[in-house]
Amino acid sequence: MYLIIAAAATILPVVLGQVYSQSNLNHTCLLVPDYQSCTVNANPLTVDSCCVETYGGLVLATQFWDTYTGLESSGQVLPKNSWTLHGLWPDFCNGSFTQYCDLSRQYDPSPSPNTTTGPNGTTVSVPAYTGPGVDTFVQDFGRYDLLAYMKKYWVSQGSPSAGFWAHEFSKHATCYSTFDVPCYGPKYEQHEEVIDFFETAITYFRQLPTYDWLADAGIVPSNTTSYSLHDIQNALRIRFGATPYLGCSGPKYSAPNSTDHGKTVLSEAWYYHNVLGRPQDGKSVVLDASVAGSVSSCSNATGAIWYYERGAGSQA
Ligand SMILES: *[C@@H]1O[C@H](CO)[C@@H](O)[C@H](O)[C@H]1NC(C)=O
Ligand SMILES: *[C@@H]1O[C@H](CO)[C@@H](O)[C@H](O)[C@H]1NC(C)=O
Ligand SMILES: *[C@@H]1O[C@H](CO)[C@@H](O)[C@H](O)[C@H]1NC(C)=O
Ligand SMILES: *[C@@H]1O[C@H](CO)[C@@H](O)[C@H](O)[C@H]1NC(C)=O
Ligand SMILES: *[C@@H]1O[C@H](CO)[C@@H](O)[C@H](O)[C@H]1NC(C)=O
Ligand SMILES: *[C@@H]1O[C@H](CO)[C@@H](O)[C@H](O)[C@H]1NC(C)=O
Ligand SMILES: *[C@@H]1O[C@H](CO)[C@@H](O)[C@H](O)[C@H]1NC(C)=O
Repeated sequence: MYLIIAAAATILPVVLGQVYSQSNLNHTCLLVPDYQSCTVNANPLTVDSCCVETYGGLVLATQFWDTYTGLESSGQVLPKNSWTLHGLWPDFCNGSFTQYCDLSRQYDPSPSPNTTTGPNGTTVSVPAYTGPGVDTFVQDFGRYDLLAYMKKYWVSQGSPSAGFWAHEFSKHATCYSTFDVPCYGPKYEQHEEVIDFFETAITYFRQLPTYDWLADAGIVPSNTTSYSLHDIQNALRIRFGATPYLGCSGPKYSAPNSTDHGKTVLSEAWYYHNVLGRPQDGKSVVLDASVAGSVSSCSNATGAIWYYERGAGSQA
């Protein structure tokens, strides 16, 4: 039998504290079954919410395909032959989501949006963070190898990457039950869970080599050959085991009398999962993106999709 650990499941973000008020136990998760998120077992009334994801149980491993960063002159370039890490998002099981769930861990220099839901559904502002960057948190733990990996594969467009990592942590990761500070027990060191989140996002990213999966199917970046969404979806579904969401940007498809107004420049892939136990442990069940609704914003028209090559100076 399990102890009553947390407040009611219906509790909404209490932005000035933790999502849940956990017990003062040490959260030794190896003693807790790896229950699957978004099932009846993942109930914070009956299981330790530090050990089973009870809040954001639909976990999206998200990636970008960008062709430039805008900060090439300061050395911020994209990794050759690889998509880049966007984030690891804890959506609700019904596909909706919330954000900035704990303003005591707000490290985002440019909050977007700049408001969130406070107690009793009130709207509260999310203040811009002006302290040391989250890259210094990683340095403080002496994790230079992790930092080097993040600089290479977790690359922002139009802003320094460290601010983007902070955004991903404070906007999204504070909404997991399993990354709450009390989950780290009595020996918690400040920012430990931030480093843990970065490692977890990377764990998922490394299991999802979008570039290689597409290249193996003959789909490589090109500024002269376009592709069909259907072929891109098929290539990724075969390797992932479920259909990811594909996001497009750029111009909308337009042809005489066509009702297809999907966009035409491939730019994002979102891989959906339920997690078994803690996301930190990297055990998951893959899900079709249709679980949350639409599977793409891209045009379905034959040959409508551009998977553009990067500029020569934009990758290394
Ligand atoms: C939790 O850890 C603290 C510090 O190590 C210890 O004093 C306490 O007894 C532990 N509690 C449980 C339930 O294990
Ligand atoms: C989705 O689930 C969340 C969390 O349980 C809930 O707050 C929200 O109202 C739900 N949204 C819809 C559209 O059902
Ligand atoms: C919040 O964002 C809105 C919309 O982008 C903007 O109009 C407003 O000035 C911002 N507020 C603050 C305090 O930055
Ligand atoms: C939320 O609403 C309840 C019931 O109306 C009230 O007792 C409580 O003080 C409110 N909490 C906040 C933070 O406003
Ligand atoms: C578009 O629809 C109009 C009206 O039905 C028709 O006259 C025209 O031939 C169609 N154009 C094409 C390219 O199918
Ligand atoms: C693409 O096709 C799917 C399935 O037929 C449809 O649901 C979706 O709306 C289409 N997308 C666009 C942009 O027309
Ligand atoms: C290919 O096109 C994209 C989008 O217009 C552009 O950013 C990129 O520099 C081009 N790459 C090459 C090698 O021409």
